[in-house]
Order: sequence, then structure tokens, then C-alpha cells
Amino acid sequence: MGRVLVVDDEQSMREFLAICLRRAGHQVSVADSGAAGVAQLEANPTDVVVTDLRMPGDLDGLGLLEQVKQRRIDTEVILVTAFATADTAIAAMKQGAYDYLTKPFKVDEINAVIGRAMEKRRLIAENLALKDQVAGRVRLAQLLGRSRAMQKVFELIGKIHSTRTSVLITGESGTGKELVARALHTEGSRSAAAFVAVNCGAIPDELMESELFGHMKGSFTGAHADKPGLFRQAQGGTLFLDEIGELSLGLQVKLLRALQERKVKPVGASTETEVDVRVVAATNRDLEAEVARSAFRQDLYYRLNVIEVRLPPLRQRREDVPLLVEHFVRRFTADQGKELRGLEPAAIKRLEEYDFPGNVRELENIIERAVALAPGPTIGLDDLPVLRTSGARAQPGADASAPFPDDGVDLDRLVYDYERGIVQKALDRAGGVRKRAAALLGISFRSLRYRLDKLGFDRPPDAEPDDPD
Ligand SMILES: Nc1ncnc2c1ncn2[C@@H]1O[C@H](COP(=O)(O)OP(=O)(O)OP(=O)(O)O)[C@@H](O)[C@H]1O
Ligand SMILES: [Mg+2]
Repeated sequence: MGRVLVVDDEQSMREFLAICLRRAGHQVSVADSGAAGVAQLEANPTDVVVTDLRMPGDLDGLGLLEQVKQRRIDTEVILVTAFATADTAIAAMKQGAYDYLTKPFKVDEINAVIGRAMEKRRLIAENLALKDQVAGRVRLAQLLGRSRAMQKVFELIGKIHSTRTSVLITGESGTGKELVARALHTEGSRSAAAFVAVNCGAIPDELMESELFGHMKGSFTGAHADKPGLFRQAQGGTLFLDEIGELSLGLQVKLLRALQERKVKPVGASTETEVDVRVVAATNRDLEAEVARSAFRQDLYYRLNVIEVRLPPLRQRREDVPLLVEHFVRRFTADQGKELRGLEPAAIKRLEEYDFPGNVRELENIIERAVALAPGPTIGLDDLPVLRTSGARAQPGADASAPFPDDGVDLDRLVYDYERGIVQKALDRAGGVRKRAAALLGISFRSLRYRLDKLGFDRPPDAEPDDPD
């Protein structure tokens, strides 16, 4: 069922059609001229227009159809004519009418045509919605990603952006934690209010309290005026506490209080002020481990970590690399006013195999540099820095007895690939227990740990205790 507009200069015809169509369950409005019809279409969304072909005035049925198409009004047009000549029918269809009917027509006939037009509208709408869904999957706010892992992140953001619950964003450096914090804000119900970001590692501890909670004039040397503090600046909005792991234990207590009471007490003030702020925190540290060694308060950890958004490192979502590359190439060619056609397949492949210890930020820097250096028209391998590629995809165990290739080798890369391959095999053999793997390789646990970092292996989430070798 849909919204139908009937346009006819003859009152009896308008009424007849209106009654039939309402009976069929449609929502019907009427207009008595082509011009009145256009005005109604502009004002109200309409699925289907049924218009008489011959009408006095400036706009007849074909004129109305032409206006609909010209103004890109989103509706299907059905023409009704008493004299169906092949000419008018052809003209109508050429101009994009959905169909035409000849008078006298039966009620069933008009219902069937309108039903088909509605069905077409429904299919188009469904198709658009699907396209939106697909498009939405590779982008959320400024965040790009088509990998399953990133889609999960998008879904989670979609579920929680408008709640007030605290969120902890974790992930290695450069994985996009700040972008996630901003997306939570801009996508959510607080987007009209402020997004206030503070880097807890960048502000000296003595200043942090007044920074967060504000102070009263004269409360300490240098406090020349009242200061609202970041919590109150973020009133109604979001406070992003970046590098939360750097916050001193003393301030952790005060922050916990503010979160629990939803009130802040400026330095030197005697009363507390209520605040309505959503707190989003981020860290690239393993906060759980910090809690275990009492460097981070457990109660605050639980308060912040009500919902965790965990950003996987880029090497665990390599499918996202081409998408990000395209995005950064577009951005930096525009920034630098260069015209480049993108990366050559070999260069893309090299990037897809690389481990990106610096994650998306590192990829971003690589592309910025390549865009600046590339003579054009494309970006090739030569425009990339030397990237040590992991053996995860390359063949482990380069064969030294193989004949030396005519065009030479990349020794560093061969050694790297070999080492990674062997270490991986040892880890597999040891069932992932690193101490056992170290023994199998005849090296110390500490040496293995060093190599794992160097070779771009992931740290296991539950780090084994240090081995005092
Ligand atoms: N999914 C993504 N799509 C597009 N750009 C991204 C994405 N992830 C990260 N970036 C870009 O990479 C850079 C690093 O991201 P961001 O600053 O959010 O990382 P971070 O996790 O906060 O890093 P750090 O821990 O070092 O502060 C930014 O320039 C950001 O725009
Ligand atoms: Mg950051």
C-alpha cells in the first residue's frame, strides 16, 4: 500500500479514482490541474501519480510527467487517456511514464498497474538500502575497514554510541583508537555537544587535577581566574581520556569518584558540581596487567571497561590494506596537488605482506612519503621504503643450495623470512608455549621474546612471566 496522487480536471473522475484506490488500501490525495499536482508532489512524498493526459491549463498530463522527471521528483507516473493513439503512448513511455491506461478502464486494471508500480518502488528502495548497508560496512565516520574484525567494531559502535556507559578502547599504537572515540561521539546522541580530548600522558601530574576538574581563582599560585576544567567543558558531550594508563594513582581515585558520583569538585572549591559527561578512555597498554601489578586501580579499570572496543593490529586484518591505501592516496594527492593513479600491483602486494608494527599510522606515513616521492604516473615498489616482510606468507626456509638468481637477492629479506619461518615452526611444535619454543631453538626465553617482537609476531594476550635467565 502506498501514497497515490490523482490529478484530473474532472471532479467525477477524481472522486471515482480516489474511492477505488482508498478501497484498495492506498493513501490518496487529489489535484485538479497539472500545476496543482506538481505543487503537491513537491510538498509530499508520493509513490505513484495517476494523471489524466488531457487537461486544460499550462500543464497537461505529459507536461506534468516532464516536470516530474526534470525536477527529479521520486515518483512513478501513470497516464490516463481517452484516446490512446500510438503516438501519445509512445511519447509517454519515452518520457519515462511507468504505464498508461485507456478510458474506460476497469477498477481491477488500475489496481493492477498501481500494484506493479508500487512493487517497482519497493524493489528500488530495498536495493538502495542494501547498497547503503554494504557501503556502511566499509566506512563509519572517518573509520575505514572491510575486514570482519572492523565490521565487528562498527557494529559495536553502532550499538553503544548513544548510551552513557563508559567505553575503553584498546589496541596497539596507530590502530585508530582516537578515530573510534570520535566516531562514538559524532555518531551518537551527544554529537551536538563538545568532544573534549585530553592526553593523560602529556600533562604533568600536578596540573592534571585542575585540568580535569577545574579550579577556583586563587586556589593555588598561578590560579588567576576560575577555570571550568575539561569535565565541565565536555558537559552534555564526550570526554576522551587518551593514554589513560599514564594517569597517576592519586588521580585515578579522583577520576573514579567523578565517574561514580557524576560530580566534580574544582580545586579550591567547597562544593561539587554535577556533570553529564560520557567518558571514553583509550590505552595501548595492557591495563589488566597493570592492574595485576597494582599500577592501575582495579575499581577504576572496571568502571572504565564496562564496554571494551578492541582494535586489532593491521597485520591481523590485511584485507583492509588496499582500502586504506586508496583512501590515503586520494588524500595525499589532493593535499600535495599531485596527480597519481594509485599503486602498482607489486607495491600493493608488498604492503599487503608487511606487518606494520606502527599499524594504520605507519601505512599512512608510507603513502604520504610515496606520494611525495613518486615521479608518476603511478606509485611503484621503488617509491616505498624498505619493508621487511614477514614470513607468514612468504615461503619459510629459503633454500641456500638453490642456484643464485641472475637478478640477485634481497639478503636481509631472505634471512628475515627464514628466521620467521623457523621461529613459527618452533612455536607450532611447542604448542605455542614460548619457553618450550626457546628451548627447541637453543636460545634463551628473553632472546626469543626479542626476536618475536622484531619479527612482528603478536604478543600473546596473557603474557608469560619474565624468565630470569
Ligand atoms: N580504520 C581507519 N581508517 C582510516 N584511517 C585510520 C584508521 N585507523 C587509523 N587511521 C589513521 O591512522 C592514524 C592513527 O590513528 P589514531 O590516532 O586514531 O591511532 P591511535 O590508536 O590513537 O594511536 P596511538 O595509540 O599511537 O595514539 C590517524 O591519522 C588516523 O586517521
Ligand atoms: Mg591516539
